Amino acid sequence: MDDRTCISFDRTLETGYPEIDDPHRELFDHLDRLLAASRERRTREEVARMVSFLGDYVVHHFAAEERLMALSDDPEAGPHRAEHARFVREFGALSREFTRDGPSPDFIIRLVNRVTSWLRQHIYRTDRALVEHLKSRC
Ligand SMILES: [Fe+2]
Repeated sequence: MDDRTCISFDRTLETGYPEIDDPHRELFDHLDRLLAASRERRTREEVARMVSFLGDYVVHHFAAEERLMALSDDPEAGPHRAEHARFVREFGALSREFTRDGPSPDFIIRLVNRVTSWLRQHIYRTDRALVEHLKSRC
C-alpha cells in the first residue's frame, strides 16, 4: 500500500447484517479519508483529530457488537471480546507513537495498513461467525 491506494469496503466483507455492515463501511471510508488527509499533507492537528475519531469509533463499534453478543448468548463472545481488547491495546500503542512522532506519511500508511488488514481478517472470520449465530436465532 502507498498513499495513493484507495481503501474501500467491498461486497466480500458484507455479512448481510446492516447493524454490523454499516459501521464497517464507515470505518473503511474513514481509513480512506485518513490516507487522503496524509497525502494532502493536512496539518498535524487535523490528522490527530482523525486518528482519535477512528480510535473512538472502533471502541464504540466493538461495544455495539459486544451488546449483540450478550443479548444473544453468543458462545464465542469471550474470544471475540478478547480479539477486540487486543486490537484496542494495539491501536493505543499506535496512537501513542503518533502523539510522539507526528503524522509522517509512512506512519499513516502503516497505521491504515494495519487497521485495514486487521479489520478484514476479523470481519471474515469472527464477525461473520457472530452474524451466523445471530441469524440462527431468528
Ligand atoms: Fe468484532
